[in-house]
Amino acid sequence: MSILKVSQLGHPVLRRVAEPVDPEQIQADAFQRFIVDLRETMAAYQGVGLAAPQVHVSNRVLVYLAMGEEDRDPEVLVLVNPVIEPMGDEMESSWEGCLSIPDIRGLVSRHSQIKVTALDDTGQDVSYVARDFEARVIQHEVDHLDGILYLDRMDDLATLSFQAEYDTFWARDEDEDDSE
Ligand code: NI
Repeated sequence: MSILKVSQLGHPVLRRVAEPVDPEQIQADAFQRFIVDLRETMAAYQGVGLAAPQVHVSNRVLVYLAMGEEDRDPEVLVLVNPVIEPMGDEMESSWEGCLSIPDIRGLVSRHSQIKVTALDDTGQDVSYVARDFEARVIQHEVDHLDGILYLDRMDDLATLSFQAEYDTFWARDEDEDDSE
């Protein structure tokens, strides 16, 4: 178990299209250890999502914190080789941060509802619909697997803010303070 080093903006691994994971390898000790490290690294940095390229591993795997519905406890989910598909045309604009771009936030428009198809951490097929904040986190993390950063998705770079300025000028109506 280790806390991994997080790749920072400018490192080429963040701009690479990551390789699919061989499903046969999911149950292997090496991959299972990597998943544990990814989860621990996300927790150590208090992130709500982390993709493998963010720890210098160019594979299509991510972890994220699923907040769940009101009666469910938050849980960390693992998605291997995820594919996402927008459901409907509805978009929602909200603030994002990224552990690979520390102390900066910006407004990003994302699909409100997506269908997720992936393998889980045991290699089983999973398919579900994610909405709102969960859908946003998944879209942000899947972008990492394609070498895309939230900066690329911003409609208007004028909202780009350092964390301290965000807290002072923008955070009034927001209660989220998360990085992905
Ligand atoms: Ni990120």
